[in-house]
Amino acid sequence: IDALLAQGVDGKRVFVRADLNVPLDGTTITDDGRIRAVLPTIKALTEAGAKVVVASHLGRPKGAPDPAFSLRPAAARLAELLGASVAFAADTIGSEAHDAVNGLEAGGVAVIENLRFNPGETSKDDAARAEFASRLAALADVYVGDGFGAVHRKHASVFDLPKLLPAYAGHLIATEVGVLKKLTDDVKRPYVVVLGGAKVSDKLGVIDHLLEKADRILVGGGMAYTFLKAKGHEVGISLLQEDQIPACLEYLARAEKRGVEFVLPVDVLVSADFPDLKTKAPANPDTVASDAIPADKEGLDIGPKTRELYAAKLADAATVFWNGPMGVFEHPDYANGTKAVAQALVDSPAFTVVGGGDSAAAVRILGFDENAFGHISTGGGASLEYLEGKTLPGLAALED
Ligand code: 3PG
Repeated sequence: IDALLAQGVDGKRVFVRADLNVPLDGTTITDDGRIRAVLPTIKALTEAGAKVVVASHLGRPKGAPDPAFSLRPAAARLAELLGASVAFAADTIGSEAHDAVNGLEAGGVAVIENLRFNPGETSKDDAARAEFASRLAALADVYVGDGFGAVHRKHASVFDLPKLLPAYAGHLIATEVGVLKKLTDDVKRPYVVVLGGAKVSDKLGVIDHLLEKADRILVGGGMAYTFLKAKGHEVGISLLQEDQIPACLEYLARAEKRGVEFVLPVDVLVSADFPDLKTKAPANPDTVASDAIPADKEGLDIGPKTRELYAAKLADAATVFWNGPMGVFEHPDYANGTKAVAQALVDSPAFTVVGGGDSAAAVRILGFDENAFGHISTGGGASLEYLEGKTLPGLAALED
């Protein structure tokens, strides 16, 4: 973007592909981190006199307009954060979008509606995506890619559109890639990785890669139960991906062979019922050893001994990457595991990176100061795929 700014953008229409995929409770944004993260790029462009067209996806609508996934609340929040008015177009390539862009003055900002309301955005058919991209290209003179959270998607606005307009990377993408590079090239050791979240299947690629890179891997969240089962423990009615057990066994064996410490919970909080996340009524969980989960109960957070163990395993780290909550942190009775990991990162002198939409939102929702972490990535799948060493379509298109 510095190269673009150096050329001058006064009066030019600049399409900024952001990732405004923020968590919503109805129309209330519960974590605006991703909107704040793109402000430096938008401000740099408006201050230079550009007409800024901001576009993003939100959620996973089915290729047609769906009010539950409207970007209107995100546009309103963007206006508040910018302290300026932001026009909103209720379509993406239709007359509203064109009117909004035509109505922009130099330094003005418009947000167009959720890109995924159009089936061309996510289509697997190259021609359908190219057609939608060419309609988007009509809205702008220049493209700035800054939706780091979506760069792993081969979608029209991420992959095809930058090929149709002069294209640049925004500040957020530059920052994210700079940070993640530190975890892939020449990482400072000990390098400790904490992985959580629901599904082990989402993490296989990154575990595969980390077994070559990390010194220690600590596992929590729903994915831990498939590993516990693979080790021969009964897990009651906990989240379990039976079909992933062979992969878990292979990774445990590889970790041992390579001398990577692979640490699983020693105790967990269990209950017969999933907690009520709306009323947050007390859940009264039991604490049990991780090899003694009752048949009729499910694990919903790591237990107190595991919290201490993981804090100790993080204490001497020089680099930490954390992706995925340790439990159902949205309920106060199951938030302590995630809080303990966040606190251990805050207390650590290591270079700490929190990656993943959920863990990033968790640290803010649980009240931690985001400046206490080395970096909080806006990318979930994107940061994992970057660490896996995959080619990310949105970055490749910008490099082209
Ligand atoms: C994310 O939340 O990880 C990004 O916004 C991408 O969203 P997606 O997984 O729906 O493509």
